[in-house]
Amino acid sequence: MFALPLTDEVELRPLEPWRAEEFLANLDRSREHILPWVSSTFVATDLPSARAVLQRYADRWASDNGGIWGLWRQGRLIGGVMFVSFDVTIGVCEVGCWLEPAAQGRGLMAPAIRRIIDWAVRERGIHRVEWRTNADNVRSIALARRLGLRHDGTLRQVYPGPNGRIDLQIWSVLAPEWLARQADPESTVH
Ligand SMILES: CC(C)(COP(=O)(O)OP(=O)(O)OC[C@H]1O[C@@H](n2cnc3c(N)ncnc32)[C@H](O)[C@@H]1OP(=O)(O)O)[C@@H](O)C(=O)NCCC(=O)NCCS
Repeated sequence: MFALPLTDEVELRPLEPWRAEEFLANLDRSREHILPWVSSTFVATDLPSARAVLQRYADRWASDNGGIWGLWRQGRLIGGVMFVSFDVTIGVCEVGCWLEPAAQGRGLMAPAIRRIIDWAVRERGIHRVEWRTNADNVRSIALARRLGLRHDGTLRQVYPGPNGRIDLQIWSVLAPEWLARQADPESTVH
């Protein structure tokens, strides 16, 4: 019912539990591509588990501690953005995202992330927006940098992975940095 145009072709819409079939179809197109980089609990494998993922986010949205939105391109769900966590009491949230492979490399994700960070900072008073990424996730790190986030540090060997333990990079942007950058996109926080 509600859609926010991001470009001529792409719209951001709430990704609600009734969209589970579309979500599962998107995951089926994305599975191998995103599995190394996102939580395996997110990458549902059948309709009940896809509905459960979206229901979890719907419950978080209702409790004001998370949310998920999809990107539709020419009527097809191609990926999405989410608040993995959202805590207005302490003013901190974590942003996440995914795209199916055919949608990657077209500059579609940055405007969607900008939209939800802007909402978090301007409308909800969030002070610190976090981005947590596997240190080998080159595209995710490039996106964080492009958005103007800075690298706070690396948690070394946090999880076991298929090729040894995984380093987790933490990137962030603070509200004053975000607002300054939106006012002057050439400015840098580094
Ligand atoms: C992370 C992820 C969303 C990044 O997607 P992406 O397409 O690289 O990011 P953007 O939408 O910002 O697009 C930037 C790319 O589009 C290109 N591009 C093309 N047209 C563009 C335009 N008009 N404007 C901006 N960039 C454009 C850029 O050159 C860049 O490509 P390059 O890195 O090959 O040079 C995607 O790689 C993904 O889904 N990965 C798997 C899941 C994942 O890692 N999630 C994050 C976990 S922390």
